[in-house]
Amino acid sequence: MTDTLTPVLTADWGTDRAWTLDAYRSAGGYQALDKALKMQPAEVVEMVKESGLRGRGGAGFPTGMKWSFIPQDNPKPKYLVVNADESEPGTCKDIPFMMATPHTLIEGVIIAAHAINAKQAFIYVRGEVLHVIRRLRAACREAYEAGYLGRDILGSGVDVDLVIHAGAGAYICGEETALLDSLEGRRGQPRLRPPFPAVEGLYASPTVINNVESIASVPSIIRGGHEWFASMGTEKSKGYVIYSLSGHVKKPGQYEAPLGITLRTLIELGGGMREGSELKFWTPGGSSTPLLTAEHLDMPLDYESVGAAGSMLGTRALQVFDQTTSVVRCVLRWTEFYKHESCGKCTPCREGTWWLVQTLQRLDGGQGREGDIELLLDLCDNILGRSFCALGDGATSPITSAIQHFRDEFEAGMHTPSRELFPPAASTLF
Ligand code: NAI
Ligand code: SF4
Repeated sequence: MTDTLTPVLTADWGTDRAWTLDAYRSAGGYQALDKALKMQPAEVVEMVKESGLRGRGGAGFPTGMKWSFIPQDNPKPKYLVVNADESEPGTCKDIPFMMATPHTLIEGVIIAAHAINAKQAFIYVRGEVLHVIRRLRAACREAYEAGYLGRDILGSGVDVDLVIHAGAGAYICGEETALLDSLEGRRGQPRLRPPFPAVEGLYASPTVINNVESIASVPSIIRGGHEWFASMGTEKSKGYVIYSLSGHVKKPGQYEAPLGITLRTLIELGGGMREGSELKFWTPGGSSTPLLTAEHLDMPLDYESVGAAGSMLGTRALQVFDQTTSVVRCVLRWTEFYKHESCGKCTPCREGTWWLVQTLQRLDGGQGREGDIELLLDLCDNILGRSFCALGDGATSPITSAIQHFRDEFEAGMHTPSRELFPPAASTLF
């Protein structure tokens, strides 16, 4: 169990102009690249496997194992794609990270590309965050000029080119196969898996897709060693991660700490709950993960423990809500988001999210009908496991968990508007 912050990825966030190549090199940047280029690709893969690093985008798939799925005997080019399309409601770790220290990500990209024998890498960034795109492009230019990107990197014989690609701002393009379609110039809609991208990804070639934080963790593993990385966290959830803490807490922000820390400790490290606030409910990994309550304050934040509590660690977007929040209104806001972002490819999600919003609007307005709660649960049942991708499943999580924990508030929606039960106050978030 852990009770302290362990800044590694965020260690230089306070440094003056930390995003420049000079500042990054002064802090030991690109030394891991030098070391990794002297290693065989398979050795790098093995080291990342041994570290226990799991995907930081939400699903927690072992990163080294994903790299080892790339069929090296396939004559097609191999690609590395970084998923920087961070859009999960509440998740705000990759965007500040790329603003603060873009070279950590670029160093990780070059090491990962070397590990899987990819000569071409892409960072797919949300189109709305123009400031991040500009910063990444500036860092990319610096890396080319310094010989860290391009031909024969640091005299190693390794070639890696990097393109910073701006998406157009659709949540679905964070789904890895929709991202690939978008990168290929098509409308971003999920593809059927399998084949997984590791076998048939970008331009039908073997492709590794990793989240920003996963790739950015690689230089520290190469520098510090896999044992050092694995010494943090829990038995099956190793290392440190960035938690995005938001809501009714005194100091919302990004907190880097090992997996296995508890929400109680993170809230304490973040100055505590706001004056007069009591925890009512929270999300462990954004709105796609089932809500939890104060009962789960001491649960270790690792994949296994959160799963055992009936939720998912996801992106570690810890959204904390107090007693002034209407759970019905909150869930309605999230469901409106899913309805808006549904790509429309499959019926359960396209039609289902529309009906969910209609029903939740009635309950929020105090005009719920007899059987509306059952209708919501039935709709969720027809979306979960029947949608083409995880977006549809995710849309049901806040609703079913909110009904499980706060059924009385949904029942009140038969006669009383949420705004009467929870009058908007200065601290109200929804
Ligand atoms: P997934 O579990 O289906 O896949 C995870 C990764 O492992 C993928 O890269 C997949 O290609 C790979 N993989 C899985 N099985 C494989 C196999 N047999 N062979 C080769 N590769 C394999 O999860 P998915 O659908 O990719 O992501 C869902 C997660 O995304 C959710 O848990 C959610 O927390 C997170 N999410 C994150 C968002 C963000 O803004 N960061 C937004 C929305 C969701
Ligand atoms: Fe599109 Fe939703 Fe179906 Fe995913 S679940 S393919 S987002 S319609």
